[in-house]
Amino acid sequence: MSWKETQENGGLAVITGGASGVGLAAAHLLADRGFDLMLADLGEEQLSAAASALRSRGARVHTSVVDVSDTGAMENLARQAFETGPVAVLMNNAGMARPTTTLDSADQWRRIIDVNFYGVLNGVQAFVPRMIDADRPAVVINTGSKQGITTPPGNPAYNVSKAAVRVLTEQLAHELREAGAPLQTHLFVPGFTYTGMIAAFMPEKPAAAWTSEECVGYLFERVSAGDFYILCPDNDVSRETDAKRVLWSAGDIAENRPPLSRWHPDWKEAFSAWEKG
Ligand SMILES: NC(=O)c1ccc[n+]([C@@H]2O[C@H](COP(=O)([O-])OP(=O)(O)OC[C@H]3O[C@@H](n4cnc5c(N)ncnc54)[C@H](O)[C@@H]3O)[C@@H](O)[C@H]2O)c1
Repeated sequence: MSWKETQENGGLAVITGGASGVGLAAAHLLADRGFDLMLADLGEEQLSAAASALRSRGARVHTSVVDVSDTGAMENLARQAFETGPVAVLMNNAGMARPTTTLDSADQWRRIIDVNFYGVLNGVQAFVPRMIDADRPAVVINTGSKQGITTPPGNPAYNVSKAAVRVLTEQLAHELREAGAPLQTHLFVPGFTYTGMIAAFMPEKPAAAWTSEECVGYLFERVSAGDFYILCPDNDVSRETDAKRVLWSAGDIAENRPPLSRWHPDWKEAFSAWEKG
């Protein structure tokens, strides 16, 4: 089972958070590769605009207003999708970001965890059993973040939600592999990408950021290569730099350094020298 087979068999690509940013760019790329689309997002207006742009290029598009944190709504989305056709691509991508601290209220934490983590879990639990039953080649792509891997200070709730997505996706890949299911699973980790989420506080694309199109171009190149961990570079951070940061982060535990030593006054310089070396 491979991405080539999934493309040859075709079917429906379901994308949550599909009305904006990397989700919308993925919709355009997958439409060009012959997939039908089902875009799920929060707002009718945003979904209609996304669907019209895709239809004007000949794509077959369904839309659904869904809050991914709502388990029942995600179950309905899965039922609706499989009534439309076999699901070949499930992209659990909807997400939100806002600054938090560890001492923010549980309610402020809960909304971020509900959307970013339970949104993905809901997608997996509603779709994957049906995808297994369909017994055709298909892919599941869950959108994580580097913030769920190296967990930089400044936004603990977002980091926790994305670390949970990483662990969930690793476990899912293992379980599907053990079960011999014809599903390929991927953890998609965008680099700094200029999307709606970033435009909300940066009116112009910074030079460091990739466009959504660059990011999803890289995603499907690596899906095609069969990678599980798909860490996208950007204009500032290369694949090699990411690898070093991941290793340093794991080294905090292995070498008994203080947590987040990369940002610790006693360790910052050692990290910097190691990263450059
Ligand atoms: N842009 C980056 O630099 C970056 C980096 C790492 C990870 N990500 C992740 O990429 C994913 C896509 O984000 P983006 O950057 O394209 O931003 P975006 O804001 O352009 O797109 C996110 C989409 O998700 C939708 N959404 C939010 N909450 C939802 C909910 N409860 N139910 C349904 N839809 C919901 C939004 O309406 C929006 O259309 C997110 O999971 C985000 O955390 C982005």
